[in-house]
Amino acid sequence: RPGAEQWVPEHPDLAALRAAAPDCRGCELWKPATQVVFSAGAASARLVLVGEQPGDQEDRQGEPFVGPAGRLLAQAVEEAGIARREIYVTNAVKHFRFERRGKRRIHEKPAVAHIDACRPWLRAELGVVRPGIVVCLGATAARSVLGRDVRIGAERGRVLEESDPPALITTHPSALLRTRDPADRDAAFAALVADLRVAHEAAS
Ligand code: URA
Ligand code: SF4
Repeated sequence: RPGAEQWVPEHPDLAALRAAAPDCRGCELWKPATQVVFSAGAASARLVLVGEQPGDQEDRQGEPFVGPAGRLLAQAVEEAGIARREIYVTNAVKHFRFERRGKRRIHEKPAVAHIDACRPWLRAELGVVRPGIVVCLGATAARSVLGRDVRIGAERGRVLEESDPPALITTHPSALLRTRDPADRDAAFAALVADLRVAHEAAS
């Protein structure tokens, strides 16, 4: 059967999930990647933040959100008054998908098949952490958590009770990195912070 299911341990804790993830062959993305990138944070976290997939830096270091998007996210989390120990950070897809152009590795969006294949890991993580809320950073995360396509602009910033745990959709920090105009970028950052505050409030 395709997908990660057969590699996810039953009745796990975070350590067991982390230990099992490197063996996953639930889709083909493991092959060109350097390593699996699992998560950061404790099982006691009240907020789970879900990104898209590891980027180039994350793939090299084996840690989520350690590159440019991660730095921006850390700033937004701090600005929202959320402590690091309150959050658990992970991705919808646990291997870096890229296209090789000479020496460079260019990020490529995961396909729906990759998101669906990797979902059992995220489900297991949510089952262990049992957060008050899961924050979907962008459409890929929302697709994994809610199982449907979303329009970020129309649905962001509200607590959605259709999932268990409840979810809140916001923008992915790398969308901010692509915003060139400084005023637009400041506004997008403020909107991200505002969404994180809503999530924090709902989780406490
Ligand atoms: N972008 C993501 O979605 N996840 C990471 O871990 C890094 C960048
Ligand atoms: Fe397994 Fe997910 Fe990696 Fe695919 S991306 S091999 S499903 S961990």
